[in-house]
Amino acid sequence: MHQSNIVFSEQALELKAIAREIADKHVRPLSAQHDKDQEYNYVAAEAVSKAGLFGTFIPKEYGGLGAGVLALSLVAEELAKADSGFGVAFAVNALGSFPIILGGTEEQKTRWLPQIAAGKKKVAFCLSEKFAGSDAQGLSVRAFEDGDDWVICGEKKWTTNGGVADLYSVFAVTEPDSKSRRISAFVVEKGTPGFEIKKVEDKMGIRCVPVVETHFDHVRVPKANLIGGRPGMGFRHAMSTLDYARPGVAAQAMGASQGALDLATVYANRRKQFGVTIANHQMVQQMLADMAMKTEAARQLVYAAAAGIDDTGPSPYNSKMAAMAKCFATDVAMEVATDAVQVFGGYGFMEDYPIAKFFRDAKILQIYEGTNQVQRLVIARHLIRESSDLQHLAEFIPTEVQESYSDEAVGSRNL
Ligand code: CAA
Repeated sequence: MHQSNIVFSEQALELKAIAREIADKHVRPLSAQHDKDQEYNYVAAEAVSKAGLFGTFIPKEYGGLGAGVLALSLVAEELAKADSGFGVAFAVNALGSFPIILGGTEEQKTRWLPQIAAGKKKVAFCLSEKFAGSDAQGLSVRAFEDGDDWVICGEKKWTTNGGVADLYSVFAVTEPDSKSRRISAFVVEKGTPGFEIKKVEDKMGIRCVPVVETHFDHVRVPKANLIGGRPGMGFRHAMSTLDYARPGVAAQAMGASQGALDLATVYANRRKQFGVTIANHQMVQQMLADMAMKTEAARQLVYAAAAGIDDTGPSPYNSKMAAMAKCFATDVAMEVATDAVQVFGGYGFMEDYPIAKFFRDAKILQIYEGTNQVQRLVIARHLIRESSDLQHLAEFIPTEVQESYSDEAVGSRNL
């Protein structure tokens, strides 16, 4: 039986406390202005860097703290409680780094990870394209081998942290006719000729972190930048990276839920209607109770998913748990933010107060790092595969269904 053992190390709790301090001092006070101006919070990023938090998810042997995915989740939660946009501005560095951590050669890890851990280099993840979002195998950006180099051509869409980042994990087609070895992953450094940040998106939420188009016009990178040193491994690197990164998005969502709930509770305790604070009204109490239950359920699932990865590394079970945590926690964040606006009533609809921003920021959580439809697909595929362990239950289903069953059915289309 799979069971994640959630143990918070002293180090993880310390990192959480530091993140909370940074959130209170450098994130929350500047959040509204950065949101309005669509400006990156360099002050908070510098504080994160000085405190060593960019090293949270980097192994010790490469200059990081080696604190793992659970600690990464605790830090993302605290930052997102203050500002979900800054939560992703932090966590996206993990998304961009995991291809190197999980799939990179020793030389690549030694070359890039210490700089990421020290906060000297920020990272972005270039997978999605205009015509390839959920269908991550349907990429069209191409990379061609040329002498000692690879040459990358095409456009990527929705690159979070683009422009701020110094390193980009870029996924490109290297073997167009291959089914399972079509894609390879590369590290492209900022400033490489032909690599340009083009359209900077004007977004509904998470406005303090840039989301851009990245264009590659015959971008030449040395073969040493091919992640893992072997072509054709890119899709696997992308998928295992997402398994590791999704608990971080889920934590961001759960932190945002807690942040919205905290504000709604404070408001409900002070706002008077019909002669008493609205916290005295049972319909408001019910909303607050539901928000708290869902947030707490999300928290336990996120911690379990993260702890599972720290305990046992890549596995189908951890992949399923990561998808469950991402899907559940981000759906909860949208629901909680919606209810928090409702508790605030007319004030909640106004941009004068942060609660409207919680609502705007929540939507993207259900979309990026795999839409929640994709998460459900991943979960269902795992469940269906795992059902082969439930043969002992077959005698309890109708005989005719049992008799018409064949092994091929399990491996059928869309699974
Ligand atoms: N780990 C390792 N390998 C995996 C894997 C995993 N979790 N999942 C699949 N694979 C392997 C499979 O074993 C298979 O290998 P073989 O070909 O050798 O058999 C191969 O990858 C193909 O797998 P599938 O047939 O399952 O692939 P698929 O085309 O059906 O796609 C999908 C599956 C789950 C829908 C996938 O495309 C997906 O996750 N899509 C969503 C992409 C996504 O999350 N994008 C977000 C981008 S990041 C972002 O939003 C950004 C940001 O900047 C913040």
